[in-house]
This record gives sequence, structure tokens and C-alpha cells, in this order.
Amino acid sequence: MKLLITGMAGFIGHAVAKRLAGKGHEIVGIDNLNDYYDVSLKQARLDDLADCKDVQFIRLDLADREGMAALFAEHCFDRVIHLAAQAGVRYSLENPHVYADSNLVGHLNVLEGCRHGKVEHLVYASSSSVYGMNEHVPFATGGVVDHPISLYAATKKANELMAHTYSHLYGLPTTGLRFFTVYGPWGRPDMAMFKFTRAILAGEPIQVFNHGDMQRDFTYVDDIVEGVVRVLDVIPQADPQWQSGASGPDTSSAPYALYNIGHGSPVSLMAFVRAVEAATGREAICDFQPIQPGDVPRTWADTEALFQATGYRPEVSVEVGVRKFVEWYRGFYGV
Ligand SMILES: NC(=O)c1ccc[n+]([C@@H]2O[C@H](COP(=O)([O-])OP(=O)(O)OC[C@H]3O[C@@H](n4cnc5c(N)ncnc54)[C@H](O)[C@@H]3O)[C@@H](O)[C@H]2O)c1
Repeated sequence: MKLLITGMAGFIGHAVAKRLAGKGHEIVGIDNLNDYYDVSLKQARLDDLADCKDVQFIRLDLADREGMAALFAEHCFDRVIHLAAQAGVRYSLENPHVYADSNLVGHLNVLEGCRHGKVEHLVYASSSSVYGMNEHVPFATGGVVDHPISLYAATKKANELMAHTYSHLYGLPTTGLRFFTVYGPWGRPDMAMFKFTRAILAGEPIQVFNHGDMQRDFTYVDDIVEGVVRVLDVIPQADPQWQSGASGPDTSSAPYALYNIGHGSPVSLMAFVRAVEAATGREAICDFQPIQPGDVPRTWADTEALFQATGYRPEVSVEVGVRKFVEWYRGFYGV
């Protein structure tokens, strides 16, 4: 198959490309290599893929309408894994426009490319942040996601709505994946795993929000990749029998699907800190802070739908996953 991976220089995009390389596919990856975080880490991820002869990288901005149309016109993609986005809840408070450009205009350009390119399946990243003010745990895709509390979350919810529209109007099979706090080797410097490890190894304090009273459904990157790869082969079908009102908001008459990908068990922030301490062999200096605007106190994925569709449940424990991250971090940065 010919595959497009957007955001290939990113944390998850790199891991998905690495997993699919050498499996007989022709892979094209795009990324605009923006400087939201250290560009040299993005470049290092691309360098890590350089030996994969079946992987080609093109520097391209999702929001470049002509560029995106030309990409889809030139390559006849069978399937698209759309992971590029402006991520980060807190950053969206100060830089709202970049979320509109990358996550709304960019997502539309991907949908248009898939529509005109007759792509057989678009799999795209949504986020657990869409659950917003919903406190009904575990979060299920049939639950309410009408009260986002950050612009980032609102753009991810909008992505799902836009995808549904294209599934309905043009019969484009789309699958949205709500990722839950992904961590692991090659992870993002703006996320807790990375920040905690860096600070603890440097003997500096770590900021612990909501005074440590937070829970996250931390999901190891290999589990996310396994879910993405399996879902890619589960192409949603139209359902003419579907009746609005009789089924949940995660179903449709259109070829449209939505899954949570999370570990399925919330871990308290302090247990996560303890796992980093154990893996680094150092004690954390905790600087307890109030909850940040846009943050939710707890996430917890109901992964039953993913299991029903793919036979897979994420399985890597926080202890194992954190140890693997710390090993990678020490090797990569030589500390
Ligand atoms: N990591 C998580 O915990 C998590 C949780 C929920 C959802 N997600 C979603 O998963 C996807 C991948 O996340 P990630 O953690 O790998 O983030 P990341 O920031 O490491 O990767 C995203 C990549 O997209 C690229 N990009 C951003 N805007 C672009 C644009 N306009 N044009 C082209 N490239 C652009 C960035 O340069 C980056 O390399 C994102 O859609 C994110 O919102 C991630």
C-alpha cells in the first residue's frame, strides 16, 4: 500500500513510520518541522528513519492548501494516517491561531486530499481532551463531549465533526483515535514524562499541578502504535440501517468510526513521579502548584470498543514504560 503519514517528525508519527517501515508499503511522511519544541529532536527522529528505503520525507505545512492538493495529486495514497497537529493544551491559551491553522485548516486540507484522491481509509488523531468537563469515567466514545475546556480540545472535537461530514457526503471512511497521554522513547519535551526526567536528573524541582491530585491514563507509545496499525485495517462501513437516536454519537450511517486508545487504568500523578524516581534512582523535588487552566483532573479510557474492533488492549505498565523512557533519555542525551 502507499501510505501518507502526516506529522512524521513528531513523537507518534516517527514511531508509526518506524513500525510500518520494511513491511512492504511505500510510505510518504510530511511535517513542517515547526519550533513548538526542540527542532533537533524532530530532525533526529527523521534521521532515525533515514535508513528505511521505503520511507520518503517531504517538508510541507498542512495549512498550505496548494501544496497539500499537489501532494495528493502526485501520490495516489491508499490510506492516510493523519497525526500532524498543533498539540498541547496550555500552549493553546497563548497561541490560539496556530491551532486554527494546523488543526482546522490543515485537517480540512487532509480531508479534501483524501476525498479527491479516493483514499480508502483516513485514520486521524483525536484526543482524550475532547471529554473536557465530562466526569463520567471511564470515558467512553458514546459519552458527552460537548464541553471542551481548551481550544486544543475544541479543534480535536471539530476534527471528528469534519471527518463525519466527509464520511457522510463523500463516503470517505474515517476513523478518529482519541489518544490518552502518550509517553515513551522519543517523547515530547513539553510533556510531564520528559520534563520530570530532565529535572530529576538535573537535581531541579518539578512542577506538580493540582498539588499532585491528578490522574492520567498514561499510555505507552508502542501500545498507541499497535492500535493505529490495527485500526488501519478496520475500514468502517456505511450502515443504512442506522437510526439516529437509537445509537450513540460514536456511530453513524456513514463509514465513520471513533475509538479511545488508552491503557484503560488511571495512574495518579504522584505514582507516576514515583515511577520516574525509581527509574532514575533519584528523588524528585516537588513544587506543588494549582491546576492549570485547560487541564482536566482525571482521564480514564474505556477501551472496550477498540478491543471489539481489533482484539487488542494496550498492555504496557507505567513501571515498564517509564523505565524504557528513562533508558532512552539517558542514552539520547548522554546523561
Ligand atoms: N502525545 C499525546 O499524549 C497525545 C495525546 C492526544 C492526542 N495526541 C495527538 O496525536 C498527534 C501526534 O501527537 P505527538 O505527541 O506525536 O505530537 P508532536 O508535536 O510530537 O507531533 C506532531 C507533528 O506534527 C507537526 N506539525 C504540526 N503542525 C503542522 C503543520 N501545520 N503542518 C505539518 N506538520 C505539522 C509537528 O512539527 C510535529 O512534528 C497529534 O494530532 C496530537 O494532537 C497526542
